[in-house]
Amino acid sequence: MAAEATFGFEQSLRRLRAGAGRKERRDKGGGQRGYSSTMAHVLILYATVEGQTACIAARIAERLEARGHAVDVREAGADNDPAAYDAVIVGASVHYGHHPAWLRAVLRRHGEALERRPSAFFSVSLSAQEGYATRFLRQARWRPDAVAVFAGALKYTRYRWFKRLLVRAFAWMGGHATDTSRDHEYTDWGSVAHFAGAFAQRLAARA
Ligand SMILES: Cc1cc2nc3c(=O)[nH]c(=O)nc-3n(C[C@H](O)[C@H](O)[C@H](O)COP(=O)(O)O)c2cc1C
Repeated sequence: MAAEATFGFEQSLRRLRAGAGRKERRDKGGGQRGYSSTMAHVLILYATVEGQTACIAARIAERLEARGHAVDVREAGADNDPAAYDAVIVGASVHYGHHPAWLRAVLRRHGEALERRPSAFFSVSLSAQEGYATRFLRQARWRPDAVAVFAGALKYTRYRWFKRLLVRAFAWMGGHATDTSRDHEYTDWGSVAHFAGAFAQRLAARA
Protein backbone atom coordinates (compact mmCIF):
# COMPACT_ATOMS: atom_id res chain seq x y z
CA MET A 1 0.00 0.00 0.00
CA ALA A 2 1.35 3.48 -0.82
CA ALA A 3 2.64 5.46 2.16
CA GLU A 4 0.04 8.16 1.58
CA ALA A 5 -2.81 5.69 1.83
CA THR A 6 -1.82 4.64 5.36
CA PHE A 7 -2.91 7.99 6.82
CA GLY A 8 -5.50 6.86 9.33
CA PHE A 9 -8.36 8.10 11.44
CA GLU A 10 -6.22 8.05 14.59
CA GLN A 11 -3.67 10.35 12.97
CA SER A 12 -6.51 12.65 11.99
CA LEU A 13 -7.77 12.78 15.54
CA ARG A 14 -4.28 13.60 16.81
CA ARG A 15 -4.12 16.35 14.24
CA LEU A 16 -7.48 17.76 15.24
CA ARG A 17 -6.40 17.81 18.89
CA ALA A 18 -3.19 19.59 17.89
CA GLY A 19 -5.38 22.07 16.01
CA ALA A 20 -7.09 23.03 19.26
CA GLY A 21 -3.68 23.98 20.67
CA ARG A 22 -2.90 26.12 17.67
CA LYS A 23 -6.16 28.02 18.07
CA GLU A 24 -5.26 28.85 21.68
CA ARG A 25 -1.91 30.21 20.65
CA ARG A 26 -3.56 32.29 17.96
CA ASP A 27 -6.06 33.72 20.43
CA LYS A 28 -3.30 34.64 22.86
CA GLY A 29 -1.57 36.44 20.02
CA GLY A 30 -4.64 38.58 19.38
CA GLY A 31 -6.91 36.99 16.77
CA GLN A 32 -5.36 36.91 13.33
CA ARG A 33 -2.85 39.71 13.96
CA GLY A 34 0.77 38.82 13.37
CA TYR A 35 0.06 36.71 10.27
CA SER A 36 1.31 37.71 6.87
CA SER A 37 -1.21 39.37 4.56
CA THR A 38 -0.91 36.59 1.98
CA MET A 39 -1.80 33.94 4.52
CA ALA A 40 -5.45 33.00 4.77
CA HIS A 41 -7.34 31.71 7.80
CA VAL A 42 -9.24 28.71 6.44
CA LEU A 43 -12.11 26.80 8.02
CA ILE A 44 -12.55 23.16 7.00
CA LEU A 45 -15.89 21.73 8.12
CA TYR A 46 -16.57 18.04 7.76
CA ALA A 47 -19.52 15.72 8.31
CA THR A 48 -18.54 12.09 8.78
CA VAL A 49 -20.05 8.86 10.06
CA GLU A 50 -17.15 6.42 9.96
CA GLY A 51 -14.23 8.85 9.88
CA GLN A 52 -12.96 8.84 6.27
CA THR A 53 -14.13 12.40 5.55
CA ALA A 54 -12.30 13.55 8.70
CA CYS A 55 -9.11 11.89 7.38
CA ILE A 56 -9.50 13.70 4.05
CA ALA A 57 -10.20 17.03 5.80
CA ALA A 58 -7.05 16.56 7.88
CA ARG A 59 -4.99 15.83 4.78
CA ILE A 60 -6.28 18.96 3.00
CA ALA A 61 -5.47 21.00 6.12
CA GLU A 62 -1.95 19.62 6.17
CA ARG A 63 -1.43 20.64 2.55
CA LEU A 64 -2.78 24.16 3.09
CA GLU A 65 -0.64 24.62 6.19
CA ALA A 66 2.39 23.54 4.21
CA ARG A 67 1.60 26.52 1.92
CA GLY A 68 1.61 28.86 4.92
CA HIS A 69 -2.11 29.12 5.66
CA ALA A 70 -3.72 28.78 9.10
CA VAL A 71 -6.39 26.10 9.13
CA ASP A 72 -9.07 25.12 11.64
CA VAL A 73 -10.59 21.68 11.05
CA ARG A 74 -13.98 21.31 12.73
CA GLU A 75 -16.77 18.78 12.73
CA ALA A 76 -19.73 20.60 11.17
CA GLY A 77 -22.27 21.68 13.73
CA ALA A 78 -24.31 24.51 15.09
CA ASP A 79 -21.43 26.63 16.40
CA ASN A 80 -19.38 26.99 13.21
CA ASP A 81 -19.11 30.55 11.92
CA PRO A 82 -17.72 30.79 8.37
CA ALA A 83 -17.89 34.59 8.59
CA ALA A 84 -14.91 34.51 10.98
CA TYR A 85 -12.65 33.03 8.26
CA ASP A 86 -11.12 34.11 4.96
CA ALA A 87 -12.08 30.90 3.16
CA VAL A 88 -14.15 27.79 3.79
CA ILE A 89 -14.01 24.16 2.66
CA VAL A 90 -16.84 21.76 3.50
CA GLY A 91 -16.64 17.97 3.15
CA ALA A 92 -19.36 15.39 3.70
CA SER A 93 -19.89 11.69 3.14
CA VAL A 94 -22.77 9.87 1.45
CA HIS A 95 -24.93 7.28 3.20
CA TYR A 96 -27.97 5.64 1.59
CA GLY A 97 -27.72 7.90 -1.42
CA HIS A 98 -27.52 11.25 0.36
CA HIS A 99 -25.31 13.75 2.09
CA PRO A 100 -26.75 14.65 5.51
CA ALA A 101 -29.88 16.79 5.38
CA TRP A 102 -28.89 18.62 8.58
CA LEU A 103 -25.71 19.84 6.86
CA ARG A 104 -27.82 21.30 4.07
CA ALA A 105 -29.63 23.37 6.70
CA VAL A 106 -26.31 24.56 8.20
CA LEU A 107 -25.07 25.64 4.76
CA ARG A 108 -28.30 27.48 3.99
CA ARG A 109 -28.05 29.32 7.29
CA HIS A 110 -24.54 30.51 6.42
CA GLY A 111 -25.27 31.01 2.72
CA GLU A 112 -24.30 34.67 2.58
CA ALA A 113 -20.97 34.16 4.36
CA LEU A 114 -20.16 31.21 2.07
CA GLU A 115 -20.91 33.19 -1.09
CA ARG A 116 -18.64 36.05 0.01
CA ARG A 117 -15.39 34.11 0.40
CA PRO A 118 -13.42 31.48 -1.53
CA SER A 119 -15.09 28.16 -0.89
CA ALA A 120 -15.04 24.53 -1.93
CA PHE A 121 -17.01 21.37 -1.32
CA PHE A 122 -15.84 17.76 -1.40
CA SER A 123 -18.10 14.74 -1.45
CA VAL A 124 -16.97 11.34 -0.16
CA SER A 125 -18.71 8.14 -1.23
CA LEU A 126 -17.91 4.63 -2.32
CA SER A 127 -18.94 5.24 -5.91
CA ALA A 128 -17.51 8.79 -6.11
CA GLN A 129 -20.55 9.84 -8.14
CA GLU A 130 -20.81 13.53 -8.96
CA GLY A 131 -24.60 13.32 -8.79
CA TYR A 132 -24.64 13.20 -4.98
CA ALA A 133 -22.72 16.47 -4.73
CA THR A 134 -24.69 18.18 -7.50
CA ARG A 135 -28.05 17.38 -5.91
CA PHE A 136 -26.86 18.28 -2.41
CA LEU A 137 -25.44 21.65 -3.46
CA ARG A 138 -28.58 22.50 -5.41
CA GLN A 139 -30.73 21.74 -2.37
CA ALA A 140 -28.36 23.68 -0.10
CA ARG A 141 -28.51 26.60 -2.58
CA TRP A 142 -24.74 26.89 -2.44
CA ARG A 143 -22.40 27.36 -5.40
CA PRO A 144 -18.87 26.83 -4.10
CA ASP A 145 -15.91 27.87 -6.28
CA ALA A 146 -14.70 24.27 -6.51
CA VAL A 147 -16.28 20.85 -6.10
CA ALA A 148 -14.49 17.50 -5.83
CA VAL A 149 -15.66 13.94 -5.38
CA PHE A 150 -13.42 11.42 -3.63
CA ALA A 151 -13.83 7.71 -3.17
CA GLY A 152 -14.04 6.85 0.53
CA ALA A 153 -13.53 3.57 2.35
CA LEU A 154 -15.32 0.45 3.46
CA LYS A 155 -14.69 0.16 7.19
CA TYR A 156 -16.17 -3.28 7.75
CA THR A 157 -14.39 -3.72 11.09
CA ARG A 158 -16.29 -0.74 12.51
CA TYR A 159 -19.80 -1.72 11.34
CA ARG A 160 -22.22 -3.71 13.50
CA TRP A 161 -23.29 -7.03 12.00
CA PHE A 162 -26.42 -5.81 10.17
CA LYS A 163 -24.70 -2.78 8.67
CA ARG A 164 -21.78 -5.01 7.68
CA LEU A 165 -24.10 -7.37 5.81
CA LEU A 166 -25.94 -4.51 4.13
CA VAL A 167 -22.80 -2.68 3.04
CA ARG A 168 -21.27 -5.94 1.84
CA ALA A 169 -24.31 -6.42 -0.40
CA PHE A 170 -23.99 -2.85 -1.78
CA ALA A 171 -20.27 -3.43 -2.29
CA TRP A 172 -20.86 -6.70 -4.13
CA MET A 173 -23.35 -4.99 -6.46
CA GLY A 174 -20.86 -2.20 -7.17
CA GLY A 175 -17.92 -4.55 -7.68
CA HIS A 176 -16.12 -3.45 -4.51
CA ALA A 177 -14.38 -5.50 -1.83
CA THR A 178 -16.55 -7.97 0.08
CA ASP A 179 -13.92 -9.34 2.51
CA THR A 180 -15.41 -8.12 5.79
CA SER A 181 -12.45 -9.27 7.90
CA ARG A 182 -10.68 -5.97 7.17
CA ASP A 183 -11.19 -2.37 6.01
CA HIS A 184 -10.69 -1.26 2.40
CA GLU A 185 -9.59 2.25 1.46
CA TYR A 186 -10.30 3.66 -2.01
CA THR A 187 -9.33 7.29 -1.47
CA ASP A 188 -6.92 8.62 -4.07
CA TRP A 189 -4.64 10.74 -1.89
CA GLY A 190 -2.99 12.23 -4.97
CA SER A 191 -6.37 13.70 -6.00
CA VAL A 192 -6.87 15.04 -2.48
CA ALA A 193 -3.46 16.74 -2.61
CA HIS A 194 -4.29 18.17 -6.05
CA PHE A 195 -7.60 19.60 -4.75
CA ALA A 196 -5.80 21.22 -1.80
CA GLY A 197 -3.10 22.62 -4.08
CA ALA A 198 -5.69 24.13 -6.44
CA PHE A 199 -7.49 25.75 -3.50
CA ALA A 200 -4.18 27.17 -2.23
CA GLN A 201 -3.62 28.67 -5.68
CA ARG A 202 -7.07 30.26 -5.52
CA LEU A 203 -6.14 31.80 -2.16
CA ALA A 204 -2.83 33.08 -3.54
CA ALA A 205 -4.61 34.64 -6.53
CA ARG A 206 -6.96 36.55 -4.23
CA ALA A 207 -4.10 37.96 -2.06
C1 LIG B 1 -24.59 2.33 5.64
C2 LIG B 1 -23.80 2.89 4.49
C3 LIG B 1 -24.46 3.38 3.37
C4 LIG B 1 -23.72 3.89 2.29
N1 LIG B 1 -24.38 4.35 1.20
C5 LIG B 1 -23.66 4.76 0.13
C6 LIG B 1 -24.33 5.18 -1.07
O1 LIG B 1 -25.56 5.24 -1.15
N2 LIG B 1 -23.56 5.52 -2.14
C7 LIG B 1 -22.18 5.47 -2.10
O2 LIG B 1 -21.55 5.75 -3.11
N3 LIG B 1 -21.54 5.13 -0.96
C8 LIG B 1 -22.22 4.77 0.13
N4 LIG B 1 -21.59 4.39 1.28
C9 LIG B 1 -20.12 4.46 1.33
C10 LIG B 1 -19.64 5.66 2.16
O3 LIG B 1 -19.92 6.87 1.50
C11 LIG B 1 -18.14 5.49 2.40
O4 LIG B 1 -17.96 4.40 3.26
C12 LIG B 1 -17.47 6.73 2.95
O5 LIG B 1 -16.09 6.49 3.04
C13 LIG B 1 -18.04 7.12 4.31
O6 LIG B 1 -17.39 8.27 4.74
P1 LIG B 1 -17.29 8.66 6.29
O7 LIG B 1 -16.41 7.60 6.91
O8 LIG B 1 -16.64 9.98 6.32
O9 LIG B 1 -18.67 8.66 6.84
C14 LIG B 1 -22.29 3.91 2.35
C15 LIG B 1 -21.65 3.42 3.51
C16 LIG B 1 -22.38 2.93 4.57
C17 LIG B 1 -21.65 2.40 5.78
